[in-house]
Amino acid sequence: MEKNNRGKFASKIGVILASAGSAVGLGNIWRFPTEAGENGGAAFILIYICCIILFGLPVMIAEFMIGRQTHADASTAFKKLAPGKIQWHWIGPLGVVAGMMIFSFYSVVAGWTLNYTIQAGLNTFNQMAGNGRENVFGDYFNQFITNPVWPTLCLAAFILLTHYVVAKGIEKGIERFSKIMMPTLFILLLVLAGFALTTEGAQEGLTFLFKPDFSKINSDVILSAMGQAFFSLSIGLGCLCTYASYFRPNVNLTKTAVSVAGIDTFVAIVSGLIIFPAVFSVPGMEPTEGPSLVFVALPNIFRIVFADYPVIAYVLPLLFYFLLVLASLTSTISMHELVTAYLHERHQISRRKATYIVTAVCLFFGILCSLSLGIGSLYTIGGMSLFDLFDYLTAKWMLPLGGLFIALFTGWQLERRIIWEELTNKGQLSFYGFKIFMFLMKFVAPVGILLIFLDQLNILSFS
Ligand code: PHE
Repeated sequence: MEKNNRGKFASKIGVILASAGSAVGLGNIWRFPTEAGENGGAAFILIYICCIILFGLPVMIAEFMIGRQTHADASTAFKKLAPGKIQWHWIGPLGVVAGMMIFSFYSVVAGWTLNYTIQAGLNTFNQMAGNGRENVFGDYFNQFITNPVWPTLCLAAFILLTHYVVAKGIEKGIERFSKIMMPTLFILLLVLAGFALTTEGAQEGLTFLFKPDFSKINSDVILSAMGQAFFSLSIGLGCLCTYASYFRPNVNLTKTAVSVAGIDTFVAIVSGLIIFPAVFSVPGMEPTEGPSLVFVALPNIFRIVFADYPVIAYVLPLLFYFLLVLASLTSTISMHELVTAYLHERHQISRRKATYIVTAVCLFFGILCSLSLGIGSLYTIGGMSLFDLFDYLTAKWMLPLGGLFIALFTGWQLERRIIWEELTNKGQLSFYGFKIFMFLMKFVAPVGILLIFLDQLNILSFS
């Protein structure tokens, strides 16, 4: 795919699925329950949904507009739209760095899902469950992630898998892949949620998820919810802007954004419906468990619900972890593509070479992140492992900051004519609520994000 012959997504459904593929991933199934669990459940979820509507959707639409209007990588796009103006194009490199950092720590967790797929294939979990010890899955998880070799190999395998798909290019690699995978994942998640709701912890799980305790809200919870919204929608770093540069002119951007945000939120809530009933069904498990939550709660669900059906107890986890690998892959592909397109188009490096550079750099940092949870755990920065630091800096600061700039750019810098053209496909679609959209873009999103930052930094206190 050379510069003047850029790839394109072939179909509208392919566009939605590829963008939703970027959005739906470990962010929904692993990070969302972890954050919701640590931040008090329902109150967090409420703020999360507000952040999706007030900041997430407008920023996503803005990224789509900027990408499709310019048909360029995220950095060149800003340069093209605001030539010679304040250094807007720095939004691009900020996102590229965030993308590399996310790719590095995200691949560690994706590597875990790869290992869990292999272990499910070897029937390891069912055999373990048989030996009757209380927290066998928790012990297994801790032993596994602190091992210096096996998680690193899984991580490397995962990054190479991503490399392979990105190297194949847009339509053949990304689109075809998302079309099969996403619907299968939805169906399986719904089936699992159905089963989880039959467990004895279901009632408590539902209360935790849906009955807000407002006394739990503080500035950390608000920052976490905002960060999770940006992370989960893959916005604030230019990923969706890059994808939109491959959209055709007839794609309805608003509809696509609403579908993607809807699917993403739906998957996160359904994941909560699977995980929290499981947590409250297992003695000694707490929702505040952290990153191990999904990896410990899920095998427990399979154990509890399917104890008498060994075939299902074998097949379902295998299928689930396999789909989780694929869901993670559609997300890492978008991170990889963001950086590859940037190097290729902005710095005129051949696409092939760019792909290799991204893979090599992320492999390096990914291995460091993985080791930082085991043999490297004594080395911390600000009290955090490298893995936690990358997660914290990107989700809670860099992505919302990118979102803030994108909103400011669209609200105050971008020509209104371009916004109108992009929202209506040059007048072919009707768009109601243009004024509301501009108001969100100009004031609500930037001021809201800024206030949350100031609150966290204790410069302002409203929570
Ligand atoms: N949104 C993805 C997920 O939920 C993660 C991601 C973040 C992907 C940023 C691309 C960019 O798993």
